[in-house]
Amino acid sequence: MGFDVDRSKVDKLNAGENYIKHIDALALTALIRERRFEPTADMSRLSEADCIIICVPTPLTESRDPDLTYVKATARSIAKELRAGQLVVLESTSFPTTTRTAVWPVLEATGLRCGSDYFLAFSPEREDPGNARFQAATIPKVVGGFEETSGDLACALYAHAVVEVVRVSSMEVAEACKILENTYRAVNIALVNELKILYDKIGIDVWEVIDAAKTKPFGFQAFYPGPGLGGHCIPVDPFYLTWLARQHGERTRFIELAGEVNAHMPQYVVNRLAEFLNDQRKPINGSRVSILGVAYKKDVNDPRESPSFELMKLLFARGASLTYSDPHIPVLPKMRHYRDLPVLRSQTLTAEYLGAQDCVLIATDHSSFDYHFIVEHSTMVLDTRNATKNVSRGREKIRRA
Ligand SMILES: NC(=O)c1ccc[n+]([C@@H]2O[C@H](COP(=O)([O-])OP(=O)(O)OC[C@H]3O[C@@H](n4cnc5c(N)ncnc54)[C@H](O)[C@@H]3O)[C@@H](O)[C@H]2O)c1
Repeated sequence: MGFDVDRSKVDKLNAGENYIKHIDALALTALIRERRFEPTADMSRLSEADCIIICVPTPLTESRDPDLTYVKATARSIAKELRAGQLVVLESTSFPTTTRTAVWPVLEATGLRCGSDYFLAFSPEREDPGNARFQAATIPKVVGGFEETSGDLACALYAHAVVEVVRVSSMEVAEACKILENTYRAVNIALVNELKILYDKIGIDVWEVIDAAKTKPFGFQAFYPGPGLGGHCIPVDPFYLTWLARQHGERTRFIELAGEVNAHMPQYVVNRLAEFLNDQRKPINGSRVSILGVAYKKDVNDPRESPSFELMKLLFARGASLTYSDPHIPVLPKMRHYRDLPVLRSQTLTAEYLGAQDCVLIATDHSSFDYHFIVEHSTMVLDTRNATKNVSRGREKIRRA
């Protein structure tokens, strides 16, 4: 069964409509047709499940503190239906101690006891949307139980579905493990973003440097710069740890510095665009700029925390005449922090459209874009992803940022 409080998602799934691009639509509709997967908004049916996996959002509040509203609300829904023998596993990314402090007390208030009546564990969701090499089943799963039996049961559950179950000694280790993984990415992306700015200035191609460095067979993992950090995980999760550190009178300086560097990247890109246009004796004000890609990463239809929104906000503020193209996002969605952006529709990349732009800004390197065609028909191309690396004709029109 699949529970969601958002009835429109449940209705879509029951109507055979898959709203997540990287999930196999045919397999999903077959499961629903055969009644092996039943989407529902009826929380009273939670008692029917032997195992309940929670994967609700864990965003930040306006003041960048953890927002556990969804986790707590779900725990309350489960508590209403909790019965002996059930296993509850939290998968939402959060700071260490969340399961013990935000879920366990709510379940315990039912009078049932964890470890004898019902069971509780934490196992982080690990996903790389759009990565064809890994699906949920082929990614090892870290599991930490409230106590021994809860750990045993959660491991037994996941062993049915994934290639490897990695058992750790507690829920807190499993929670901390997920935040380490995401912090590692945020910090390393910030590092290459910072180096990009320096290398750009002295005429060194940072992507060539990274490709050379990654030939080292040990001790180096390649991370790539971009126009900022996107997705609902990497820009958000590390700040859960920052908040926890503050509660304990400590600081997480790497996380804060990485956040600062990554958050500055859209402004850096806009400054580069201004220089580029200036060289053509054009101001940003009144220039026609097309943003290619508003999804936060290539080949997905997820716009959450995408730096393209910040780029649009900055460019609109400077008077640019903006349009965008993203085959995965036909209409620009309303985002919480960018409510003032106008309603825009994705443009088709025709020779006429490209030729009418003062600059084309590649923000997301979708595979479906024809970069040869784009460079051929554009006047200027600002490439934040090295997406045009294989384009040989018209390179004088390309600048990187
Ligand atoms: N999507 C990923 O790639 C990914 C990867 C790793 C970790 N995570 C983590 O998984 C969690 C969920 O992320 P997501 O991307 O799936 O979020 P999402 O917003 O796409 O989906 C969460 C769903 O939960 C539903 N929901 C909210 N409150 C509910 C409640 N009380 N009961 C039932 N359903 C409820 C929402 O309507 C929504 O459909 C987050 O903690 C995220 O950090 C996600």
